[in-house]
Amino acid sequence: MTQATAVAHPNIALVKYWGKRDATMNLPATGSLSMTLDVFPTTTTVTVDETLAADSLELDGCTLEGTPLDRVARFLDIVRGLAGASAHARVVTTNAVPTGAGLASSASGFAALAVAASAAYGLDLTPRELSRLARRGSGSASRSIVSGVAVWHAGDDDETSFAEPTAAPDMAMVIATVEEREKPVSSRVAMVRTAETSPFYPAWVTSTAETLERMVDACAAGDLDLVGRIAETNALRMHALIQSCDPPIRYLTSASLTVLDRIEALRADGVLAYATIDAGPNVVVLCDPAQAPRIADDLAAVASTVVARPGPGARLVEAVA
Ligand code: DP6
Repeated sequence: MTQATAVAHPNIALVKYWGKRDATMNLPATGSLSMTLDVFPTTTTVTVDETLAADSLELDGCTLEGTPLDRVARFLDIVRGLAGASAHARVVTTNAVPTGAGLASSASGFAALAVAASAAYGLDLTPRELSRLARRGSGSASRSIVSGVAVWHAGDDDETSFAEPTAAPDMAMVIATVEEREKPVSSRVAMVRTAETSPFYPAWVTSTAETLERMVDACAAGDLDLVGRIAETNALRMHALIQSCDPPIRYLTSASLTVLDRIEALRADGVLAYATIDAGPNVVVLCDPAQAPRIADDLAAVASTVVARPGPGARLVEAVA
């Protein structure tokens, strides 16, 4: 029996990943860029045990079966393939982020699982290999392997589609949670519907590739205002795209729009604050670290707020042979 425990944090994309060009290898239609947070960690322990008849999954004290377990078992199959192993594993995970509320729990989840499972099965992977592996579980997880700001290259194939650190200005994010419910349509399902039914999808793919180039340059130049502007435009474009599916999907609620209104008012007051929103109703405000407390105070009237700073990439915290 071997056991390994890893910790990973969620990340919030400033240039979004929305669409796949290869669902089997989980290769994205475009590259993306994100900040790994220092809040809401996921801790995952993988125990490889020859006596187990099947893989098992426990999340926050509850035993899960069906789709979540299938997804984890398929991921463990990839790890077993790399390790030349056949034994099953017990996966026990705790999530400090509300699961499924659009706060990137699959990113921290599969990043922690990639690190813990690869160690438990005796693999010694480089950060790049870990990022590629995490990508197979969930695309955004490839970026949670990386500390701070990460760019995930669309790449040409499995070998070249990974995330790595990129230079960026100092920044903070205020997470404004308006709802903790599970989202109605998972991003995985919504991405497929978008590609199949939205007439705007080709324009999204072309424009996002160009947006990513501008974002990488703005980050390297340390221009936080430009980074914020590009991020907000990119997020609103993604939501416009999602809303243009057939049947349509709408993640934004009136509470999200209330937060967006307040961010506009803060900007009118001279505060550097820009919004981004994942596949859910909750808004994340990109800002100067010095102004984060003021923004959090302001938004506390309409949302529950947490200030996040750049956090560490996924890491192994314990391994027992
Ligand atoms: C809106 O990484 O959850 O958060 O690869 O199918 O698991 P799968 O998708 P996932 O999608 C994330 C979508 C997003 C944007 C982003 O994080 O870039």
